[in-house]
Amino acid sequence: MRIAILTGGGDCPGLNSVIRAVVRKAINEGNEVIGIRNGWKGLIENDTLKLDLQSVSGILPKGGTILGTSRTNPYKKPEDVKKVLENYKAFNLSALIAVGGEDTLGVALKLSREGLNIVGVPKTIDNDLSATDYTFGFDTAINIATECIDRLHTTAESHHRIIVVEVMGRYAGWIATEAGIAGGADVILIPEIPVDIAEVCSLIKRRHLRGKTFSIVVVAEGAKFKEGQMVTQEEKLDEFGHVRLGGIGQALADIVEKKTSYETRVVVLGHIQRGGAPTAFDRVLGTRFGVKATELVLKKEFGKMVSLQGNKIVTVSLERAVEQLKTVDMELYEIAKTFFG
Ligand code: F6P
Repeated sequence: MRIAILTGGGDCPGLNSVIRAVVRKAINEGNEVIGIRNGWKGLIENDTLKLDLQSVSGILPKGGTILGTSRTNPYKKPEDVKKVLENYKAFNLSALIAVGGEDTLGVALKLSREGLNIVGVPKTIDNDLSATDYTFGFDTAINIATECIDRLHTTAESHHRIIVVEVMGRYAGWIATEAGIAGGADVILIPEIPVDIAEVCSLIKRRHLRGKTFSIVVVAEGAKFKEGQMVTQEEKLDEFGHVRLGGIGQALADIVEKKTSYETRVVVLGHIQRGGAPTAFDRVLGTRFGVKATELVLKKEFGKMVSLQGNKIVTVSLERAVEQLKTVDMELYEIAKTFFG
């Protein structure tokens, strides 16, 4: 078989584990693998490379994706969809493995309805896909964020400050909740629950009343004030209709400082959460997904996505893969709340 693979959307640690696993498994079984550069953009522009064993040697510990990525949506222009379909045919592809989050997998679903043989692999640091228990990239992101929160504790404590830490996660608060619990945050604010500023200030004051002179507040980029909207960096939407989130940390820090009179600083972790080497968990999950996705292709089981359920890799339909956003489990958030204030 001639199998193509692409990585789309925001990069994350673990993508190279998937690429390596697909190439190794497919070639072991006598097949050929083509890499498509920069997500769907590469399939529109005919930008490909041959992936042999040598090209995936040594990539397991590397962050990012050796294939490059983009947020290109071929469904923005009918002529681009046409090019994708033509190029798929021209390359004489037997199947395509699309590695991505809800946007990339949404395109994969539409193309599979147009007749292409597609298997999906879920990735995102946001962990917001409901059809899988975990996506790779998330574990690395929460470990990075936890380390940052640990580091911020020592400087916050020395200076008797409040530090507001803004983390990514788009419309779900998974990174904030899990890194917040792991890092011992004193308040965690997530998109799922509108921010009540009076409550945040009272939690901080309560903590200071019991002798603490510093606090760490973790806020997800998608959190919004009770009476407001999500805070965005610009009006512009990307090709999938998303705004660039960011800025809630600063807005929150300004109000908290004013209302509590405690000196406050803000730290935005940003793309650091997506950079660098994947954790062992993400390498293993990416590897399991890659091997399983290749097995699906070899068995000609298309229109599916690999998924982690419990400790087993299973398959779900691409329809199910993009059906629903997975928001934070409120039982987990209740546990986090035990340590607030
Ligand atoms: O979806 C992954 C993610 O890192 C989100 O958490 C964040 O909102 C977004 O991508 C940032 O996108 P970009 O890399 O385009 O700035």
